[in-house]
Amino acid sequence: MVNEQILEALDWRYATKIFDADKKINEKDWNTLVESVRLAPSSYGLQPWKFIVVENKELRAKLREVSWNQSQVTDASHYLVFTTLEKLDAQYVDKFVADIAKTRGLQVEDLAGYRDMMVGNLVEGPRSQTIDAWAQRQSYIAMGQLTLAAGLLKIDTCALEGLDPAAYDKLLGLEDGPYKTIAAVALGYRKDDDKYKDLKKVRFDQEEVFEYKK
Ligand SMILES: Cc1cc2nc3c(=O)[nH]c(=O)nc-3n(C[C@H](O)[C@H](O)[C@H](O)COP(=O)(O)O)c2cc1C
Repeated sequence: MVNEQILEALDWRYATKIFDADKKINEKDWNTLVESVRLAPSSYGLQPWKFIVVENKELRAKLREVSWNQSQVTDASHYLVFTTLEKLDAQYVDKFVADIAKTRGLQVEDLAGYRDMMVGNLVEGPRSQTIDAWAQRQSYIAMGQLTLAAGLLKIDTCALEGLDPAAYDKLLGLEDGPYKTIAAVALGYRKDDDKYKDLKKVRFDQEEVFEYKK
């Protein structure tokens, strides 16, 4: 049953502290994980993000130094840095609208109303002042989707906010570009001696965090 599979994966997943540096995610699984990120929903569908897969070992070592020396940065099979847009301009919206038109066989003119609504809200409206926070929120949806997909594949993850975003931007050459580091996710396989894997989940009861308005 899918229900059990989902619950089992969510319980199996934990924020992995010690990865087995010798175990690598295979290409098929990696592609599924990449798709789980790419297919994430976002406000208006604007996808205000870029995901950087850091394969270079020396770079991973340098990133670890600015990530509270967390071993996941160097030892995980894959390391994905989440970056998001700081600002949104009309050009970006137009590119997105052109993509919708192309994908769905429409004319750009058919989408003028939608385009103007997005520009009015996010580029010209008061929301333009907080695009960075808006974009960051979108990226966490992708992060959640990624960790669930990984859990279903029995691939371990650890989300990392314990890092210096400005130092990441420098190391990744993002300083002058539109995207800035927000967080990262390490992915791979747990080491058997990671004692965190045996800890019981600490979560508030449903009654505490859900309220039903009847
Ligand atoms: C956005 C985010 C950032 C996190 N940053 C770190 C981190 O830098 N290092 C770490 O070891 N765990 C990090 N965690 C893991 C949390 O501490 C962990 O998810 C929480 O304690 C619940 O435990 P569980 O995920 O094992 O169930 C992060 C989790 C999230 C969602």
